[in-house]
Amino acid sequence: MKAEFWHQRWQAGEIGFHKHNYNAHMTRFIDLLGIEQGDNVLVPLCGKSLDMIWLRDQKFNVTGIEISPIAVADFFAENEIEHEISKHAWGKAYRSENLDILCADFFDISPSDLPHTDGIYDRASLIALPESMRPDYVKHLAGLIPDTTRSLLITLDYPQQEMDGPPFSVSENDVNQLFSELFIIEPIYTEDCLVNEPRFQAKGLSRLDERVFLLTKNIP
Ligand SMILES: C[S@@+](CC[C@H](N)C(=O)[O-])C[C@H]1O[C@@H](n2cnc3c(N)ncnc32)[C@H](O)[C@@H]1O
Repeated sequence: MKAEFWHQRWQAGEIGFHKHNYNAHMTRFIDLLGIEQGDNVLVPLCGKSLDMIWLRDQKFNVTGIEISPIAVADFFAENEIEHEISKHAWGKAYRSENLDILCADFFDISPSDLPHTDGIYDRASLIALPESMRPDYVKHLAGLIPDTTRSLLITLDYPQQEMDGPPFSVSENDVNQLFSELFIIEPIYTEDCLVNEPRFQAKGLSRLDERVFLLTKNIP
């Protein structure tokens, strides 16, 4: 997906992926990251997700990365969070108490742009990317984080031929192929969620599973 695709989506307000409640898998499984209050959680391709508010409220320090200036500005305005903006070679940093968003292309961010990452939360981020971009995403993500860092990954798995992404289908097999070289993979939970997703029913999907994985960056 080119950046322009996402800029247009945000411009047109076509953001069906944005939820108005906290993700139930995140609240249920976040402890598996093994992180403590004051630790830093990275949220790649964060949109204006309210999950970042929940993570901050658990006393984690949150750093999101998001390419759309509309998403980032909306996040701080809609949640009435005071912030400061600074310019960088890769874009702009929006910084507030315990919650920063780097408005940038994820692939332009280096480890030195981030605090030490203690955990990752990936909901609708990997699955926003087409198959051809996913290996680079995984490689870049692994390069941003210290060894042994854990990630909570939430994917959708459906017959790809029944619908064009995004969101793209990412099966357990896909996760194994993408991550097994650099991460230990633990499938945590699978939920048949088609019944709760009228917008995907309307697109004709016959099956939709939401999958949760715990990934641990493995020292090669
Ligand atoms: C499907 S949305 C999910 C947003 C968020 N994770 C959530 O749960 O609401 C994917 C987001 O990734 C952003 N995005 C896509 N490509 C990106 C990139 N290369 N760098 C940073 N953000 C990107 C899009 O603008 C969009 O907000």
